[in-house]
Amino acid sequence: MKRVTASVISGGGFDEQQVYIKRVAEILKSRKAEVPKACVTTYGCQQNVSDSQHLKGLLLEMGYELSDKPEGADFILFNTCAVREHAEDRVWGNVGAMKKYKEKKPSLILAVCGCMVQQKKNADTFLKSYPYVDIIFGTQVGHRLPEFIYRRLSGERRICELTLKNDGITEGVPFYNDGGFKGFVPIMYGCDNFCSYCIVPYVRGRERSRKSAAVISDVKKLADSGVKEIMLLGQNVNSYGKGLDEDINFAKLLRMVNSVPGDFRIRFMTSNPKDCTDELLDSMRDCEKAEHHLHLPFQSGSDSVLKRMNRKYTMSSYLDIIAAARERIPDMTFTSDIIVGFPDESEEDFEKTLELVRKVGFSALFTFIYSKREGTPAATMPDAVTREQKGVRFDRLLRTQEEMAKKVLRGMVGRTVRVLCEEYSNGFVFGKDEHGLNVKFSGKEDLTGNFADVIIKSAGDILTGEMIK
Ligand code: 5AD
Ligand code: SF4
Repeated sequence: MKRVTASVISGGGFDEQQVYIKRVAEILKSRKAEVPKACVTTYGCQQNVSDSQHLKGLLLEMGYELSDKPEGADFILFNTCAVREHAEDRVWGNVGAMKKYKEKKPSLILAVCGCMVQQKKNADTFLKSYPYVDIIFGTQVGHRLPEFIYRRLSGERRICELTLKNDGITEGVPFYNDGGFKGFVPIMYGCDNFCSYCIVPYVRGRERSRKSAAVISDVKKLADSGVKEIMLLGQNVNSYGKGLDEDINFAKLLRMVNSVPGDFRIRFMTSNPKDCTDELLDSMRDCEKAEHHLHLPFQSGSDSVLKRMNRKYTMSSYLDIIAAARERIPDMTFTSDIIVGFPDESEEDFEKTLELVRKVGFSALFTFIYSKREGTPAATMPDAVTREQKGVRFDRLLRTQEEMAKKVLRGMVGRTVRVLCEEYSNGFVFGKDEHGLNVKFSGKEDLTGNFADVIIKSAGDILTGEMIK
């Protein structure tokens, strides 16, 4: 695995951390004979995984060694998610379990960061009821980790920093690509959509795009290091470029990324249907590195629910995008996020969701039961739907999707696909093709991290094929 360090291209604010990096490194060296260990646990989305890669890059610069386990660690960090209650519950429990490590080793520094602690009520609970947590920081100040650790090592008892600004991006923060032959490149941060159920705009601030030169520089570094799949990240990649002093949008950025030399596949996440333009679909058609797959969350098939969700599209305009995409790329696959049991979702509303699932034929769905998020508009909407009803609908949705996914997979039999080989086990290679579909074929271990052309022979839960070169 290679370590990739981004160069300073735009923005600022990171230089001042260099001095803290040096000071922490000196203190750690003077205190301990062996290399100190850091354990980072990440919850939530790819954006959080990417943020953790930056935090890991900083920890390495300070002289820490990364460890998967909290046992024996000198620094433990939880990067949290707030999108659903379940994600938060796991964090309360898992941070609580760290108390015993702190008792055994008082010099251990315990930190929590990310979307969940960005909400003041959660940060306050950590401050009040988790006295063994040393450092608490929000979603926009991660680049200041060296300063926070320095302050703690210098005797400051507790540090809590939750500054949330609506402009500016700190460039030049090192990152450690722990994804092997897969890499993440954030292209924008924050969200301006304010979907009524969603906490993200409140915990990540307003939309801010990175300059295209900064994005391309990171893509080049990953491509040069041999990465085979690059995921462009943002809460709403389709609105990339807003507010930048360049003639750019996501469709144009995709073409720029595509022209970076190297044999790698481009993926992106996440798209809002309201901003998915024909120009973007044209780019996807023309860019040979772009996968033939679009993750386009529709959340609900009911226009009245979509309206209350503040999603700004309808079932019919969503279907128009799917048709426009298929017209340009006939073998395109689609995936989506769906929320079941939004406040007062009626049986007819839910039937519309099933109808949309049948009409499109998604290859996979990410399905969620609505989770009330305090501070969002939906949290105050009346809700007469019971938990049991929501559960029944959720199961019906899963069964419908299972049937549809089988159809999509059966349609692949006889086609030749290009598989990025991810894993090897007992004579079989497992990977993903350009449609984002899981493929298995008999092959050698050294294919891992490489592309292979495979002809699909049969379809079960996943596709099975034979390698042709
Ligand atoms: N309840 C359930 N699911 C949610 N999501 C976002 N907010 C909520 C919520 N309050 C889902 C959406 C989104 C995905 C990342 O998480 O489907 O697309
Ligand atoms: Fe969770 Fe959303 Fe934050 Fe990602 S951006 S970590 S999904 S709350």
